[in-house]
Amino acid sequence: MSQNTMSVLTIDGPSGVGKGTVARIVAKKQNWHLLDSGAIYRAFALAVDAREVDITDEKALGKIAQTLDLEFKTQLGNELVSVYLDGKDVSTILRTEKTGEVASKIASIGVVRAALLKRQKDFAKPPGLVADGRDMGTIVFPDAPFKVYLIASADERANRRLKQLQAQGSKGIILQILAKVKARDECDSSRKHSPLKPAKDALIIDTTELSIDEVVTQVVALIEA
Ligand code: DC
Repeated sequence: MSQNTMSVLTIDGPSGVGKGTVARIVAKKQNWHLLDSGAIYRAFALAVDAREVDITDEKALGKIAQTLDLEFKTQLGNELVSVYLDGKDVSTILRTEKTGEVASKIASIGVVRAALLKRQKDFAKPPGLVADGRDMGTIVFPDAPFKVYLIASADERANRRLKQLQAQGSKGIILQILAKVKARDECDSSRKHSPLKPAKDALIIDTTELSIDEVVTQVVALIEA
């Protein structure tokens, strides 16, 4: 089945905009598969760290990307995804701020993106796929019939991150979080390869004033229209 005939919904946008949450809920509602492409880049960052490879050594990075022993344990329609790297459950460490920062840096390297492309495309299986990331609608699934690009002000995204940390029992300083949010935006959108930007045919949803439910409603309406 080609991408054209298969239901693929791409959800792109900057970090902290709520893509992951919306993607999980919509995938569950539609009973579609889920691709958290950020998790692939994060796991790759962990693998590079574990192998103590210099991140300027593109040849070594390309080799790791091609041979990455990565497994997502998920069930169709299930919101929870466990990630296994080299046979070890890395679901928790994968989500740390530090891993995200390293992932963002390494994700700007062309050979790494090229080596991880097929792995991402392979997630497209019937009955459908919700793919969340930065370049899902522009590069990985350019023919997807449904494309969404979520935005929210940097202040709002920093606030959401602070609340998330507090809910986990951690502390955060809003100005530091805001600086990190802005630095990640800059890194992801200014890179040469697959920069963060909306696909021409994406529906842009500003979520600054919206609840998760309201965003989900708009996304589901797009699929069902
Ligand atoms: O969505 P996330 O925070 O888990 O992604 C972590 C980093 O991975 C992000 O800052 C940039 C990179 N990434 C990417 O370059 N392309 C994607 N499709 C997804 C993530």
